[in-house]
Amino acid sequence: METLTLTRPDDWHLHLRDGDALKAVLPYTARQFARAIVMPNLKPPVRTVAEAEAYRDRILAALPAGQMFEPLMTLYLTDNTPPEEMFAAKAAQFVKAVKYYPAGATTNSDSGVTDIRQCDGVFAAMEEADLPLLLHGEVTHAAVDIFDREKVFIETHLMPLRQRFPKLRIVLEHITTTEAVDYVLETDRIAATLTPQHLLYSRMALFQGGLRPHYYCLPILKRETHRQALVKAAISGNPKFFLGTDSAPHPRHSKESDCGCAGCFSALHALELYAEAFESAGALDKLEAFASFYGPDFYHLPRNTDAITLTKTPWRIPDELPFGESGLVPLRAGEELTWKIASADHKPALLS
Ligand code: NCD
Ligand code: ZN
Ligand code: ZN
Repeated sequence: METLTLTRPDDWHLHLRDGDALKAVLPYTARQFARAIVMPNLKPPVRTVAEAEAYRDRILAALPAGQMFEPLMTLYLTDNTPPEEMFAAKAAQFVKAVKYYPAGATTNSDSGVTDIRQCDGVFAAMEEADLPLLLHGEVTHAAVDIFDREKVFIETHLMPLRQRFPKLRIVLEHITTTEAVDYVLETDRIAATLTPQHLLYSRMALFQGGLRPHYYCLPILKRETHRQALVKAAISGNPKFFLGTDSAPHPRHSKESDCGCAGCFSALHALELYAEAFESAGALDKLEAFASFYGPDFYHLPRNTDAITLTKTPWRIPDELPFGESGLVPLRAGEELTWKIASADHKPALLS
């Protein structure tokens, strides 16, 4: 196949940051995606409906003239989030979900939750308001090996949470393991996002000829058998698995450091990367539903009506993109990609 036309996709897990960084990365996402679930892990985090509204305004103000994009906002859960904020969030319309970060688990998670049971009042309110809970599903205990953190989270936190709140709709974000796939498959009211890096790479990519910080994200890349399980889930046609890039920009100097930040930047070429992953698995025909249908269905939002076209046009991913003084290194920088977005007419149908 040389040309691929899809209903325009959305990104169900995205980091846009703020200020100049936001201005630098937003156009890449808006070129491909109509909407995105915008992660709230700013410094300080987006904890309230008022903060989410102000952040949403900054995102819309940063959008270049002529580009259309709808930010779907999330709130950052802390030990002190009041349950009433969940009803305010539901009423606000532009808040679509609430994000749980275990304190210390990942980038900008210092204000995250120290004990998940602290939030039971909030979860009860979310269940009542039917507001989805998005999970960074890793435990942080120093004794748990970094490659086991997702599996242990599922066993020790997620299974009991599911028992306590059987009706709560949950997205296990950026899943990386066979155990996560199996758990999502066997559990009601739970879906999962899959990133391009976890579909394309195993942990070998972190050590290919030397240490590769631009392949470091959390949850960390796993063994090849896990990657294969993720691909199988992505191409299965099961609506519980949908696209979420987790595109997470960090300046080059923060990645190439003696204590480098976690996060891969993929907003530049996300759909092309997914196309490659699906094509390698012989399942390009399954890409559209994964990228464009199952996400809006889960979030009870309309599917997009306009289209995006990819062609087989080999191109070289830039070594670096403009990003303040330091630059931004995209995933697989300097290497080739075979799919390329050819046309991306974006009809302004979604913004009210
Ligand atoms: C994300 C970031 O940089 O904000 N990093 C990452 O490695 N995925 C945070 C997150 O999604 O956990
Ligand atoms: Zn995360
Ligand atoms: Zn993320």
